[in-house]
Amino acid sequence: MIFDNHIPIMTNEILSFIDGKKNLSILDCTFGGGGHSKIFLEKGHFVTAIDQDNNSLKIANMLKNNFSNISFHKSNFKDIDLLKLKFKKFNFIILDLGFSSNQLDNNNIGLSFKINADLNMNYLCSDLDAYKILNHYDEEDLNRVFHLYGEINQAEKLSKFIIQQRSIKKIKTNFEFIEILRDSGVNFRSKKIHFATQAFQALRIEANNELENLLIFLKKVHKYMQIDGHLAIISFHSLEDRIVKNFFRDNKVKKNNKFHNNENWGFEILTKKPITASKHEIIKNNRSRSAKLRVGRFIN
Ligand SMILES: C[S@@+](CC[C@H](N)C(=O)[O-])C[C@H]1O[C@@H](n2cnc3c(N)ncnc32)[C@H](O)[C@@H]1O
Repeated sequence: MIFDNHIPIMTNEILSFIDGKKNLSILDCTFGGGGHSKIFLEKGHFVTAIDQDNNSLKIANMLKNNFSNISFHKSNFKDIDLLKLKFKKFNFIILDLGFSSNQLDNNNIGLSFKINADLNMNYLCSDLDAYKILNHYDEEDLNRVFHLYGEINQAEKLSKFIIQQRSIKKIKTNFEFIEILRDSGVNFRSKKIHFATQAFQALRIEANNELENLLIFLKKVHKYMQIDGHLAIISFHSLEDRIVKNFFRDNKVKKNNKFHNNENWGFEILTKKPITASKHEIIKNNRSRSAKLRVGRFIN
């Protein structure tokens, strides 16, 4: 079965950075449902795409029937240096982070707290999943995950309660975990979001090593940037956005054209504040409401 429901985000905003340019080499590090890649291909650009997801591989193979200018690599983008890429440098690199609607719809991955599923949440085919985290992590590690990645104020109280509950019975499903969250007595932060949101986010970030993947990739990205090329990153939560913001700040080109990072490359920051989706887009695609786009121009 192929899941193909994902709507690409902020496409006009992204295209505005390469308006009128032809035959660009573009690296799409988060191919997902191929939404962004397809738009680049339709404009005649050359797309090198990466995604770790099996469903993305199937979609990429279908896309190849209509477009010859795409090559797809099923891999984690953090391992970009291990890939045999046709192009060595790119005019435009995009990361549209996190998971796709296709993955959200896939009950085997179990990312949603609205549908019951076996505990997993790993959408990048690695060894770690939410079941292992919840049933095998010690108190200190659970605490770290809920505190750092869920920003849950009473992470300690929650970790202790999980350890007590799992000693009675292993936690096997998303709904069992939600029951535990409900019974834990923890005061979850916001009344605006579902009370399980932060805990689910924490498990998802840990299971997929989301932040580490991004940090590792950002250490390497300059090697793949064409001079004057753009790096565009869409993030969906503040922890990711902070990493992106700090990356551009730490590697920014100064006004006197000196490089901030003491190396001979840097970025001109093109988005002082992150670009967010228009009201119109948010109405059409609710998922876009939390998206933040930051873009830099590579200078060498
Ligand atoms: C928000 S979706 C991208 C959607 C895509 N831009 C589109 O328009 O269809 C994010 C995708 O990035 C992939 N992804 C996230 N982190 C990744 C990583 N570290 N390595 C490879 N793929 C990753 C996910 O598997 C998912 O398919």
